[in-house]
Amino acid sequence: MTENTAAPTVRLQFKPDGAAVVVPAGETISSAAAQAGVFIALPCGGRGTCGNCRVKVLSGDVAPPTEAEVSLLSEKHLEAGVRLACQTLVYSDAVIEVPQSSRALERKEISLLRRREYTVCPNVCHCVAEVGEATLGNQQSDLARLRDELTEHMDVPPSIQALRALPGAVRNSGGRVRVAGVNGRIVSITPAAERDGIYGAAVDIGTTTVVGYLFDLSTGEYLASAASYNPQAQHGADVISRINFALTEHDGLAQLQAEAISVVNEVIERAAAQVQVETRHIFEVTIVGNTCMHHLVLGLDPAHLGASPYVPVVDEAIDVEARDLGLAVNQSANVHFLPVIAGFVGADTVGVILAAELVGQPRPVLAVDIGTNGEVALWSGSELFVASCAAGPAFEGAQIQHGMRAGPGAIERVDVQDGDLVIHTIGGLSAVGICGSGLFDAVAALLDLGLLDVTGRYAPDGAVSGRAAGRLEGEGTARRVELAHAAETADRTPVLLTQTDIRKVQLAKGAVRAAVELLLRRAGLAPEDLSEVLLAGAFGNYVNPRSALRIGLLPTTLEPEQVRGIGNAAGAGAVLALLSVEERRRAEELAARAIHVELFNSPDFQDVFADAMFFP
Ligand code: FES
Repeated sequence: MTENTAAPTVRLQFKPDGAAVVVPAGETISSAAAQAGVFIALPCGGRGTCGNCRVKVLSGDVAPPTEAEVSLLSEKHLEAGVRLACQTLVYSDAVIEVPQSSRALERKEISLLRRREYTVCPNVCHCVAEVGEATLGNQQSDLARLRDELTEHMDVPPSIQALRALPGAVRNSGGRVRVAGVNGRIVSITPAAERDGIYGAAVDIGTTTVVGYLFDLSTGEYLASAASYNPQAQHGADVISRINFALTEHDGLAQLQAEAISVVNEVIERAAAQVQVETRHIFEVTIVGNTCMHHLVLGLDPAHLGASPYVPVVDEAIDVEARDLGLAVNQSANVHFLPVIAGFVGADTVGVILAAELVGQPRPVLAVDIGTNGEVALWSGSELFVASCAAGPAFEGAQIQHGMRAGPGAIERVDVQDGDLVIHTIGGLSAVGICGSGLFDAVAALLDLGLLDVTGRYAPDGAVSGRAAGRLEGEGTARRVELAHAAETADRTPVLLTQTDIRKVQLAKGAVRAAVELLLRRAGLAPEDLSEVLLAGAFGNYVNPRSALRIGLLPTTLEPEQVRGIGNAAGAGAVLALLSVEERRRAEELAARAIHVELFNSPDFQDVFADAMFFP
């Protein structure tokens, strides 16, 4: 009689989807969920530090709460079966409820890509080959026997690293190996283990926020994404302060590059961890960013971006090996940087133009990418114009007293009801701060209620009545509106919007609006000629078009229906370049045909900007 030594398995069912999976007992809930196709967001990469991967164990035996769970979950929650999916091991069949707030949401830019036609034809090719055994009768080299099994497409020269791995891979796998090629070279030969795959990452490195997207390159399927703050922000919020740091600090450029690489690695690793992909199986990375970020990731001197005539070191697309940059992916992976257009119009704008299919539209369309450095692209119907403006980080929640990135507890929407403000937070949680979309709504609501005048000044005491007037307090630059009362917030201190915050919003929206006006003039168009305005950028995901118009970010001749948020389209452009070499070529054509308009050269700039600071 043989003893059955197979590890016990358990069956997990996930509600409300109904998806089920059988896994070895002792697996974490997050890992089992991913195998069942239920993706739980793991913002801290499953380290048990963020407390965001909450699920509810409806039935089944699970391990007792870990220290991390005890510190991040209340007793009441633990008693009700709430647990952290990344921490909880399952020992019996179980039923787990995964609330919407814990799910890895499909980002809007990913749905933008689903509506867009493109052929998946990445720069990475791969196959699994059965390499015949060497015998005294067949003394062909390992490479020769591998080549016998490769199609013409895959039969390209190997890198020295791939050759070094070849003998072990062939002999440790019974001859079954996975071969990956990039840029016309075989770069990896590994035993063809079940869970290996060929993956790619697209990264949008912004001045304030960095987002990474993980894709399966064999199918083109989206797997996960992760975002983080750019650690370079400690040296200043905008690109000029980063350039100054690179110029004035000892090893400043090396430090900025190291910080950029570390955050790119972080978002890639966190996205990969969500779906249990090993980063050494990532064979290509595409990167977009403004020209300064592009230079800093590459370690190129940004000095000449910061002084007239603002010339980049290089504007064409660049390919670099991962090992030369220090990226924590397969060391032979290709890292592709999309082309830039000018000193302040970068690869991120190329990404937006590509993803939004701006060029070729029958009528004029405007795309506005709202980040710390704002970029505007206008397709006139026959020509493509681009310009940049210094919007500042206000719309990304930075430099606003209670600003934050769109995350749990951020005020994302503000409505007016019965003469008062009504706030809505992400996840319906107690308020923590306010993110970009909430900021737009809040300013629009304050204008509607008369608490704010067209110059951006808060109304003095007694000048307005109604319930919302009671939210105004303080004097001068300290005058403020209490958006969320202490009882509505997580830390029991009110969320405020100060007079200084309003000024920052005015500067940001004034810069964007001036760029829009001047590009329209350059193209010989009037605002009424625009058929549509696409709002890109992290907060373009959620911005209320009515609020964008109400605060005068865009020409007031537009109807709300003509304004559409398209999410982080720069990131979507990086994804397209990752998945399709055709789209990559197209990005180069678009960059070459773009007409860059230097706004500071425009004699009208100061006047237009000053006007644009006013609210309508
Ligand atoms: Fe952060 Fe689980 S606690 S992902």
